[in-house]
Amino acid sequence: MKVEPVPVPALRPSEYTATLIQGLRARAAWVRGADALEIGSGSGVVLATLGGLGAASLCGVDIEQKAVTLGVELLGKLGYGAASQVLCGDMWRPVSGRRFGLVTANLPHFPMTDPDISGRLPSWSDGGPDGRRLLDPFLGGLPDHLTPGGRAVIAHNGFVDLERSRALAAKGGLDLRIACTTLVYVPDDKLEHMTDGVLKREEGRSIHRYGPYVFADMHIVEIGTAGALN
Ligand SMILES: C[S@@+](CC[C@H](N)C(=O)[O-])C[C@H]1O[C@@H](n2cnc3c(N)ncnc32)[C@H](O)[C@@H]1O
Repeated sequence: MKVEPVPVPALRPSEYTATLIQGLRARAAWVRGADALEIGSGSGVVLATLGGLGAASLCGVDIEQKAVTLGVELLGKLGYGAASQVLCGDMWRPVSGRRFGLVTANLPHFPMTDPDISGRLPSWSDGGPDGRRLLDPFLGGLPDHLTPGGRAVIAHNGFVDLERSRALAAKGGLDLRIACTTLVYVPDDKLEHMTDGVLKREEGRSIHRYGPYVFADMHIVEIGTAGALN
């Protein structure tokens, strides 16, 4: 088997990416035939997954031009070029006025005040001090970007207040439920950037420490009207 080098290591997929892909594969029926959107498309590999699952069209948004270029290249190479677009910009802005049947995201939502994590772009993980810098506007804008019956499938750290996300979704008339939970390893260089207050609040709840090794709960969350999630 020929091994292809990862073209931009800073945008390489993570454990979160893998779990989100798993969550989407488990919901293949929601993807098939849908106009699909990913906010924060990075390498483009989640969009490629959606293409492989039979989405009718693919749209990605990323704030980093490098990610847009990489996504376009990957989708073209895999044969999804004609049915896809990747747009550069902030969150919902590039898709203003548009609605999608399936919206997905693995947003930067790590609670931190200093986003400088080695090997990644600063925009990769930085969720601001409470981790919700992008989650809140994502959930606020979601109802205006879903078609009737549309759904969202997102990665959601356990330590960034899932109940707040549930309340924001409810404000827009949407239910939120956990589809699956996994543990992610939190390496030292990431842990040392975590906002102190969040670490103190969540240790023993959604953050699990075994000596020097730290893990955290991460959920795949599904959002839609009650009828759409059944
Ligand atoms: C955690 S990475 C996920 C990348 C990819 N979806 C994956 O799962 O591998 C978050 C992505 O969101 C992008 N991003 C950060 N801030 C953004 C914003 N305001 N609007 C759109 N994309 C953003 C980053 O450039 C990065 O590609």
